[in-house]
Amino acid sequence: MKDDTLGLYNTADLREAARRRLPKGLFEFMDRGNDDEVAMRDNRRALDSIKLKPRVLVDVSKRSQEISLFGKKQKMPVIIAPTGSAGLAWYEGEVALARAAAAHGIPFTLAVGSMTAMEKVVQVGGTLWFQLYMWPDRALSHQLVARALDAGFEALVLTVDTPVAPGREYNLRNGFTIPFKFTRRNVVDVLSHPRWLLGVLSRYLLTTGMPRYQNFPPHMQTRITALPMGRSSAMNDTLTWDDVRQLRKLWPRKLIVKGVQHPRDAVLAADCGADGIVLSNHGGRVLDSAPPPIVTLPQVVEAVAKRITVIVDSGFRRGADVVKALALGADAVMLGRAPLHGIASAGEAGALRALTIYRDEIDRVMALIGCPSVADLNPDYVVMPPV
Ligand SMILES: Cc1cc2nc3c(=O)[nH]c(=O)nc-3n(C[C@H](O)[C@H](O)[C@H](O)COP(=O)(O)O)c2cc1C
Repeated sequence: MKDDTLGLYNTADLREAARRRLPKGLFEFMDRGNDDEVAMRDNRRALDSIKLKPRVLVDVSKRSQEISLFGKKQKMPVIIAPTGSAGLAWYEGEVALARAAAAHGIPFTLAVGSMTAMEKVVQVGGTLWFQLYMWPDRALSHQLVARALDAGFEALVLTVDTPVAPGREYNLRNGFTIPFKFTRRNVVDVLSHPRWLLGVLSRYLLTTGMPRYQNFPPHMQTRITALPMGRSSAMNDTLTWDDVRQLRKLWPRKLIVKGVQHPRDAVLAADCGADGIVLSNHGGRVLDSAPPPIVTLPQVVEAVAKRITVIVDSGFRRGADVVKALALGADAVMLGRAPLHGIASAGEAGALRALTIYRDEIDRVMALIGCPSVADLNPDYVVMPPV
């Protein structure tokens, strides 16, 4: 696997490189939270405040971070999370992310709101999951589920935490809204970032035209600059557990409910036949008063009592963060912004870099705490902050 450091040594470096390369409006759209960004800060604060208590004089010369997820071995205990804007961070950024995930032997989750068609992404191979936001018009979503099944995705990830559009005032200030409207401000912003203009936007314009939602049904494949889409494509504030039960009947492979936060909802997901959940506050991008998932993780793990797989995300920027979640009972961790910053800074090489950073950090931390394998991690390694 070709992996140059590119002068990027941690995920903060990736973020900074992405900030320099992307137009400000796009960078903030990808990087920030919502409202006062309390949840986003709390995600970090909570992870920082949890400590790891090392055991010493343990032979850690043979270390492995391999896990088995849904019965399948993977080389690292992480998954690339769905991020709808990957294709705006880099030309066909979804392909770059899928390639990096395959090279590192981990799953990649393609977001429904991607710019690259799912059939093109599956050509990369590896373990691929498809993420769905259900439209109020259920029939359209069910058709999409059938398309994802045909395309060969191994898991369907239903995201349930966004019944209405979150409050993100910075997008309005930056003139960065979808549908995208040209304003003096955002045109100047784009023109002053020529690497993005030439390397991303112009490549689309010269090939497939203005980026569009290639996974939406043909009549909804509007360009990102097109007029607002009708109710059929709006956020879905009518979704209930019945929808999960129905999807369970339509989708024979792994079904994962993403955006669960309450332990009772985790149990309901299991009752509806889901194979897993993602305990997530969407990286602090939806409900600003949401608790950090790392804090609710032990309650959720206890509530589901191993009936289903528990994946966690939101704020994981260091290998040590991943180790803390695994020690507290998570089966794996999803990474959102860090791989996205990776592709924004250097495409596939940047995504590879992001994953290598996590791999090396996880390996180092496991050695330092005297734990040779993920299976040996347990809450005894963790010191929770005083309440
Ligand atoms: C720019 C951006 C776009 C996202 N788009 C989606 C999406 O389309 N579907 C979804 O389920 N989650 C989406 N998410 C949330 C991620 O899947 C994930 O839950 C979150 O980023 C994890 O937090 P982290 O960024 O701190 O790692 C998005 C996140 C970001 C930052």
